[in-house]
Parts: sequence; structure tokens; C-alpha cells
Amino acid sequence: MDKNNLKIRFDYNNMMDKFVGSKEGIKDSDILEMTPFAKNAYDTFESIRGTGMTGWANLVNYNKEEIDDIVNCAEDIRKNYEYFVVLGIGGSALGPIAVFQALCHLHYNDLPSEKRNGPKFYVEDNVDPERMVALLDVIDVEKTMFNVITKSGSTSETMTQYLIINDILTKKLGDKAKEHIITTTSSSKGNLIKISKKEGYKTYFIPDAVGGRFSELSPVGLLPAAVLGVDIYEFLDGAKFMNEICSSSDLDKNPALMSALLSYISLRRGKNISVMMPYADGLKYIADWYCQLWAESIGKEVDKKGNLVFEGQTPVKALGVTDQHSQVQLYTEGPFDKVTTFLAVDEYRKIVKIPDGCEDIPDVNFLCGHTMNELIQAERVATEYALTVKNRLNRTIYLPILNAFTLGQLLFFFELETAYMGEMLGIDTYNQPGVENGKNATYALLGRNGYDAKREELNNAPKKDDKYII
Ligand code: PA5
Repeated sequence: MDKNNLKIRFDYNNMMDKFVGSKEGIKDSDILEMTPFAKNAYDTFESIRGTGMTGWANLVNYNKEEIDDIVNCAEDIRKNYEYFVVLGIGGSALGPIAVFQALCHLHYNDLPSEKRNGPKFYVEDNVDPERMVALLDVIDVEKTMFNVITKSGSTSETMTQYLIINDILTKKLGDKAKEHIITTTSSSKGNLIKISKKEGYKTYFIPDAVGGRFSELSPVGLLPAAVLGVDIYEFLDGAKFMNEICSSSDLDKNPALMSALLSYISLRRGKNISVMMPYADGLKYIADWYCQLWAESIGKEVDKKGNLVFEGQTPVKALGVTDQHSQVQLYTEGPFDKVTTFLAVDEYRKIVKIPDGCEDIPDVNFLCGHTMNELIQAERVATEYALTVKNRLNRTIYLPILNAFTLGQLLFFFELETAYMGEMLGIDTYNQPGVENGKNATYALLGRNGYDAKREELNNAPKKDDKYII
């Protein structure tokens, strides 16, 4: 494999004044002026890499034996189970969902087993009771491996799912229930590790220095991917390749740093919304994964010094071409508050020719002889153009083809961009006090010990007024 032929490319032409006009566009001189600022963000990140919660950046230097163990375990699951179910939420679910969509057949679960060549795959990332019942309607728990994933080992949603599944398994299988559960959690903190030791579950560890939304390259993402038959060495090597590409503070050499700087400049100019718009169904859930990464990492009330800053840029997911018929009207004519990132694929994994037909209707017949590939590319180029002529900032990341290696690059690109952006904003990229507050309020409402003060706080909150419910 020639890595350089598979290198993803970051095209930011349409962020620049030459293309979107001098009022909205960024000038070369703006970038030049901010080069020391970007270099400082890079240097700061490099100085803390691997410490605190930045352990994710070192996951690319993987230990082959650990990965071999995941691959062997996955092979065993592929042979012996008909269903593989991830129980997890947030960073413990969005990566597996994104990789499943990106690297598997788009109707994978509907394929006959001989074409799938592995278990049916589900990621349950909600506690809607209807969804739990629906899952149980379509799987046979006795033929299922459940992967319970939670870094903290205490997230109510995941622990609820675990309790339900473990109860069902134990009633059906007694002691053999443990052969149907693999846990992925912190080795040192939380309840799941205690439960895993007590029950004797096979357990994979999420390093303490790796937070949920940065954990896709840890066993959180690697075991589900390997169960799906993804080459996780190539996936990791893609991320490693992006890490090498970005190993310079020179903006012209480091695409993630350039992307972060452009995000920073646009945010400071009122672009409060970041639209992620892949032009490939396979990349649809990368937009969801990105939304969590960007929202939870960048959206912060205080900076590192404790000053109120209310930072953040709202991520929005869209899908090309589908959302051309839904969102693009707003993107081209609405407020100048957005930056759009298109994800393009040079070569789709399939080619579909549009057959001849409707010879007597030229307005339909013009499509004939083309391919769907040409159509989707033309629509992407046309949308990019429509935004650009309306002076809307946009950029495109090109994947030569969608595979494990390019996907690894893409995810690592966004992780690095997020890390640099966090340093530029001077915020703690890796905490999520807003999420924790909601988690604690849930614990209080459900009567968990140690949450009396929070319960009191909730009881004292203003009660809803019927006047405003009509
Ligand atoms: O990024 C994060 O840390 C969070 O979004 C978590 O992924 C999410 O809250 C789930 O947490 P856990 O993996 O501890 O169950």
C-alpha cells in the first residue's frame, strides 16, 4: 500500500477572500499575522501530549500484542456469536456507530449470514424502553455477545442496560451468562471494573488519560471494529500517518493546525455554527461523532484560568446530497454565521451507471449515460460553488477512497484539530462539567446515595407554571 496515494487532503480555498470575497474571506495576511499564535497552540499541545487527558494522542503508538489480543477475541466472537451488541453512550458509542457505517455494507444487518461473515451489529445508545424491547425482539440473547462500554463505569444509561441484559442472561443461562459479556472500562475507577472482577468478565481497559470522545482508537472502538472484520491495524496506521503529517508547527505542513486556525478566526468573526456535511452515506455518522467531539470539547463556560468565556461553536450535521433538499437553502441565504466542512470521496467503492431511458423527455434523458458517481460529485461541486458565490465560508476534506486507513486519518485529523482549537481558546478541552451536571441531577432524581444536596437543589428549583402549558 502506498500511503501517499491514500493521503487525505484539506482544501481551504473557499475560506479565503479570493473566493468568498473580502468581507467574509480570510486573507493570507490574517494567517501570517496569526502564525505565532497557531505555533504556540501547537507547542502547548505537544508539551502536554500524553499527560492529563491527552493520552489519546499516543494511541497511535500501539502495542501490537494488545491489538493482536483484540483481533483474536474478535475472531472468536465472529465465529461463535450471531449478534454483537454495544451497550454504551456518547464517546462509548458514537465511534463504533461511525466506523460501522463507514466500513461495512450499508445494509449489513440485512445481508444473509454468508455474505456478512460476522455477527449482526447493534449499538444501543439510549434508554428509550421501546428501543430496548425492540432490540430484544430481533436478537437471541443466547447467541449474542454484549460489549458494555463505559469509561467512568457509572453512567446511568449504560449501567441500566447492563442490569437488564445481565438479568435476562442470568435467568436463561446461569453461570454461563458471563460468556456473553465483555466489558470495556477504566482499570482503576468506577463500578463496572468492580462488577467485571466479581463476575469474571473479559475486560478491556480504556487508559485513564483517554476521555470518552477521544477513545475511538482504544478498545472502545477497536473491539467492535474488529468484530465487524475491519482491519484495525490499518485503521490505527491511518491515524498514525495523520499524526506524522501533523508533526510540525508549520501551518502549511500541518492541515489539522491550519484547520484549527481557520476555525478560530471564523469563530471570532461570528461564525458560531460548524456544519459537517459528508457526501457519502458511509460518512454519515462521522458527522455525529464530530458533533460530540467539537461540542463537548470546545463548548465551555470558563477558560483554564477560571474566567467566564462561554466559548463554543455549535456543530450541525448534514448529509450530501440529502440535505441539499432541506438545509442548503439556509446555508446559502441565511445568516452569515456558519462554516461548512464538506467531506468528499474521490472514488466511491461502487460504480452505478444510469441506464438509457425516457428518450422523449430530454429533461430526464440528460442523466442517461452518466453514473451516480458523476451525479453525486457534480452535486457536491455545485453546492460548494453555490455557497462560495454567496460568500459563505466552506472547506473540503477529500478522502481518496473510504477505507480503514483513510478513516483513521480523518478521525485523527479532527481529534488534533479539536486539541489545537482548545489550546487556541485557552479552555480545558477534555472536561465536560455540563454533562456531569446533568448526570448528577439524574442520580439525584433516582435517589442515588450521596446526592442529597443535588436533590435538595432540584426540589428548590422553581416549579413549572400551568399557565405556560397550553
Ligand atoms: O466524552 C465524554 O467523556 C462523554 O461524552 C462520555 O463519552 C459519555 O458521557 C459516556 O461516558 P462513559 O463512557 O463514562 O459512560
